[in-house]
Amino acid sequence: MTVKKNLAAATMLAGTMTALSFMSAGAAQAQGALVMYCGVQEEWCRAMTNAFERETGIKVSMTRKSAGEVYAQVKAEAANPRADIWWGGTGDPHMQAAEEGITDEYKSPKMGELQDWAVRQWEQSKGRTVGIYSGALGFGYNTELAQSKKIGDLKCWADLLKPELKDEVQVADPNSSGTAYTLLATIVQIMGEDKGFEYLKALHKNVNQYTKSGAAPAKAMALGETTAGIAFMHDIVTMVVDKAPVKVVAPCEGTGYEIGSMSIIKGAKNLDNAKKFYDWALTADAQKLGAEAKSYQVPSNKNTPIPPQAPKLNDIKLINFDFAKYGSSAERKRLLSKWDNEVKNLPK
Ligand code: G6P
Repeated sequence: MTVKKNLAAATMLAGTMTALSFMSAGAAQAQGALVMYCGVQEEWCRAMTNAFERETGIKVSMTRKSAGEVYAQVKAEAANPRADIWWGGTGDPHMQAAEEGITDEYKSPKMGELQDWAVRQWEQSKGRTVGIYSGALGFGYNTELAQSKKIGDLKCWADLLKPELKDEVQVADPNSSGTAYTLLATIVQIMGEDKGFEYLKALHKNVNQYTKSGAAPAKAMALGETTAGIAFMHDIVTMVVDKAPVKVVAPCEGTGYEIGSMSIIKGAKNLDNAKKFYDWALTADAQKLGAEAKSYQVPSNKNTPIPPQAPKLNDIKLINFDFAKYGSSAERKRLLSKWDNEVKNLPK
């Protein structure tokens, strides 16, 4: 073969390759995009985003926010929605959004693989939100700080009122955080509303900071920035797995729990992709990504192994949490404004 012929062949090959790569870029583009608001820990949000992009070629634009914040954003954008799918975070604002009609109905072919509690969430919201994981609320404490401050063992919600814990308890603000709203609803259900608010006012004296995100107190405890912190038990377990000197407590009086949820935004611009993500996120394989990202909730697909690190829900005194009532728009608004008026701004 002459040099000229070789060159010609090479040019043709290059041309074909360019055409092929244009075609595959076009194919990837044809898969389109998905805008996701993500309500779990950043690491898990990123793992889900990357895996879904890899498997489908759909480009995901993801933003992590706390539950109350996502709700407020979805509501503000309702006339011209930016997001397609809201994945994760406590169920209460998902339920509120369902009631207010800013999320859409969808029945996934994967429903038959889900735990009863996940399906119940879907039924109670008239098909607008579905359970993706579950986890119990609790608190934890930094054992080194507790020892040096001679605080002793903490076992019950009542123990968080000890005067020795003045400015030593951290918890999120229930307006932004689903974790903290779960605390508010839990305390009211365990103690009754009057006694519950008395408890929250007394707790306020010991609170050093109301954080924006629910898991922040777990991290602060691990870093020794606060002695005690209220959070979902699985978020505190993540700190223990990372070798922080932290003890996880399932409160002796009993505790509430969350049904982490997923909803499709009404008027989603990428509706087909939102449905694809929804179906995929309910599969056992996708749900395994949680434990890999050190998120130790109980997954909603019956075939996803429960991570061995996950707090055992059967060993915890769980209350019969009324998700319909505390996820209703009127009740959530009423309790949050009562907390703002009676607790948040109370002088110490
Ligand atoms: C963490 C937990 C989730 C929970 C979420 C709520 O990410 O791992 O189980 O749903 O917090 O977040 P928020 O910031 O709204 O309390």
